[in-house]
Amino acid sequence: MRLVFLGPPGAGKGTQAQRLREELDIPHISTGDILRQVAEDEEDPLGRKVKDYMKRGELVPDDIVVEIVKKRLSADDAEKGFILDGFPRTEAQARQLDAALQSVDRPIDITINFRTSEPVVMARLSGRRICTSCGANYHVKNMPPKRDGVCDRCGGPVEKRADDNETAIKRRLVLYNEQTAGLEEYYKKNNTLETVSGDLDVEELRGVLLKLFDRSGLIKHK
Ligand code: AP5
Repeated sequence: MRLVFLGPPGAGKGTQAQRLREELDIPHISTGDILRQVAEDEEDPLGRKVKDYMKRGELVPDDIVVEIVKKRLSADDAEKGFILDGFPRTEAQARQLDAALQSVDRPIDITINFRTSEPVVMARLSGRRICTSCGANYHVKNMPPKRDGVCDRCGGPVEKRADDNETAIKRRLVLYNEQTAGLEEYYKKNNTLETVSGDLDVEELRGVLLKLFDRSGLIKHK
């Protein structure tokens, strides 16, 4: 099953992908997570460049991101499928992804569009916390870790993301509307688009998604 998760920052794409990857037995490929790892290497000029874009809420240039995604998709575990979260974000990225997948005859099955209202997105991003060790995702009100500042999954430190400040959040939303929202039309034209409400609570939305995958014949029943 090859899935793309599309939607504004804070729509809950990562939260759902983290839950569904085990159920669907496919890897969760988040360009944000991969780029945060690249940005950790302060010795590497690429790491410094990526960090600078990300902390300002700017998009990392297409050529860098496309290369990273192509490499990740060629790994063995992506052969059975994947959830792409945060990619593509521009039409150029979408076209390059299509070309790469078509050349191996493995097109996208479904693009999930998480339509989410702005007040919900703002509340979620300002309260988000992530584990800097394993990437598990929390929220100070909606989903706090059991012990304050400590990850339930791996015991790592749970902190605010560097780009979850007001200025960077506003910039990410502007860029989403300018560069990414148009991909809804792009995926509508290639008949893979399904729209769900990102405003639903976590479990409700998970149920909606599982029903949708089941209806599409993408879940294999034993
Ligand atoms: P990225 O990491 O992809 O960030 P984003 O797009 O801004 O998306 P988020 O991770 O903020 O949102 P999400 O929808 O995953 O929400 P989440 O599940 O965490 O990208 C970061 C940066 O990397 C970009 O700004 C850019 O610089 C660069 N980048 C990445 N990809 C790129 C690309 N393709 N091209 C160029 N540059 C790229 O949920 C948010 C919060 O809400 C959490 O606290 C969660 O606990 C809570 N929550 C989630 N769902 C629910 C729910 N249903 N009910 C209540 N609370 C919920």
